[in-house]
Amino acid sequence: MKIIVVEDYEQLSAKAAQFVAAQVILKSHAVLGLATGSTPEGMYRRLAQLNREGTVDFSGVITFNLDEYCGLPPSHPQSYHYYMNHHLFNHVNVRPENIHIPAGDAADIAAFCREYDQAIAAAGGIDLQILGIGVNGHIGFNEPGNCLHAGTHVVDLAAETIEANSRFFASPDEVPRQAVTMGMGSIMRAKRILLLASGKSKAEAIKETVSGKVTTAVPASFLQLHRKATLILDKEAASLL
Ligand code: PGA
Repeated sequence: MKIIVVEDYEQLSAKAAQFVAAQVILKSHAVLGLATGSTPEGMYRRLAQLNREGTVDFSGVITFNLDEYCGLPPSHPQSYHYYMNHHLFNHVNVRPENIHIPAGDAADIAAFCREYDQAIAAAGGIDLQILGIGVNGHIGFNEPGNCLHAGTHVVDLAAETIEANSRFFASPDEVPRQAVTMGMGSIMRAKRILLLASGKSKAEAIKETVSGKVTTAVPASFLQLHRKATLILDKEAASLL
């Protein structure tokens, strides 16, 4: 694991954007695995700027998002479809047909999950997977538990996740209880992984991720087994290392 510690969220966002930009400059048809949440917002803002300036061209890029809530239509402001349009896709020249986001409202969700994994494989796998991390050590919505799933699947959200994400909703009752998430296999097969973490609330999860046992109780700890995983952390997130 390569660990980069920066001063604050602004520096984290700038470094992360450089990392993604470098990937797309190296390989114009790169397959990017994308994350939502508050952490990558600054990175997406900078990538949009790099695209506007002509430094990074997204016209050949293929994207696969990690996850989506079940039961929210894509037009819902808290859906990850809406998030991605709002924070990135409306501002860069990625082709709509190259964008993939799990359908949390698919009629046949099991079939959808199979097709999502097949689409990732058909694209040649993920070149660079961006990850945030939950306070409980989840990546995507792969929640701590007795076992982890390899493929895309439906998951019951952990109580900590519902609580953490309730800040985006009017009340905790409105947070969906289930989501569709890429599994650990799709994440671990990515050629490179970039995990971002900012703030004190992530410090414990980062400590377990970096130096704890590899355990399903902390899904991010599996990144210790990946050959090319990089963590960009601000000082607070790195404060227990
Ligand atoms: P956050 O979410 O970036 O909003 O903290 C990260 C996650 O839950 O994976």
